[in-house]
Amino acid sequence: MTKHNDIILQVTDLHAHFFTESGVIRALSGVDFTLRRGEVLGIVGESGCGKSVTAQCIMNMVTKPGKIMGGEIVYQRRAKGGGMTEAVNITKLNPRGREMRTIRGNEIAMIFQEPMTSLDPLYTVGNQLLEAILLHQNVTKAEAREVGEDALARVHLPEPGRIFDSYPHQLSGGQRQRVMIAIALSCNPSLLIADEPTTALDVTTQAQILDLMQELQEATGMSIIFITHDLGVVAEMCDEVAVMYLGKVVEKTDVDTAFYSPKHPYTRALLRSIPRLESTEHQRLAVIRGNVPDPSVVPMGCPFHPRCPEYMPDLCNVITPSMITLDNGQDVRCLLYGGAEQAMEKRASTTLTPIPA
Ligand SMILES: Nc1ncnc2c1ncn2[C@@H]1O[C@H](COP(=O)(O)OP(=O)(O)OP(=O)(O)O)[C@@H](O)[C@H]1O
Ligand code: SF4
Ligand SMILES: [Mg+2]
Repeated sequence: MTKHNDIILQVTDLHAHFFTESGVIRALSGVDFTLRRGEVLGIVGESGCGKSVTAQCIMNMVTKPGKIMGGEIVYQRRAKGGGMTEAVNITKLNPRGREMRTIRGNEIAMIFQEPMTSLDPLYTVGNQLLEAILLHQNVTKAEAREVGEDALARVHLPEPGRIFDSYPHQLSGGQRQRVMIAIALSCNPSLLIADEPTTALDVTTQAQILDLMQELQEATGMSIIFITHDLGVVAEMCDEVAVMYLGKVVEKTDVDTAFYSPKHPYTRALLRSIPRLESTEHQRLAVIRGNVPDPSVVPMGCPFHPRCPEYMPDLCNVITPSMITLDNGQDVRCLLYGGAEQAMEKRASTTLTPIPA
């Protein structure tokens, strides 16, 4: 995959909350990562850790009762007619404003897990493709139909003309997912966010869709954020991986390092939970001890400490680890790799207030 050193997206200290009747859910509590142009970044983590909410924030489509509470999402826009880029902080844009509408669905596109819920059953595939194309491109209706049929052919749908005039229920699950990809790619986005795009498909169709996405990434050089539960998909598709736990990135590194030298106890536990070919029939799959805590009551100290096999008493339950960059560039948020001493010193200097004479 062609990678460049220039950064297309920088997410810094992103916080997002949901204000529900039963309390505040801190879905994101300080997400940080960067994505380079042409890079495929996998975001993994157990259910509820904030993967989809991160995607919704980047698309600036967190809706009530949710709200972005802080942090930055700096996206480097292509400037018109040149190689220059222009930085915009998405968290500062009006979600329904003109600038965000020209970015969403055009420069940054998204595909979802279940195409049946994102395709409108009342409109033909063609209508939905035309809507996306006419909104973002300066073309006539006849030209838009051509662009649409080309997009369907690009995702290897046979008889694009027939598919164009079909309703979503007349297509198979794999065909619908290809249509979603065609709609997302019809405007040549610089960044594609794919949220579990193959989970609802059978294994063979899943492999075909992954091959297709890889082929399109190589042909267009777009960056991809690939959200998945499946570490096998990460190994196949991604350059970098960000592991999330309870609304934070706890480890970020290149895929080889993540698989061969994972540092965070949570990443190690996730890797132990993947089935291996060499394991015998009777070997049980390792499961991560305990459940993900409710994000409305995040544990003190390191949020992973109640489940961590390497838990250090009086440290991990007291000090919240910061992200540390190791010598090889691997980012990890765990006190095993440092940060405890500075945090203890800081706590001592802030809690030991001198008593006035
Ligand atoms: N609309 C909403 N209202 C209330 N809480 C929400 C809403 N959307 C998400 N959340 C909460 O935010 C947290 C993060 O959810 P998110 O959907 O990002 O998880 P996820 O990592 O994508 O999980 P999964 O792997 O199951 O898709 C969860 O605790 C979830 O319950
Ligand atoms: S800080 Fe402590 S509890 Fe948290 S992951 Fe590291 S060792 Fe485990
Ligand atoms: Mg999700």
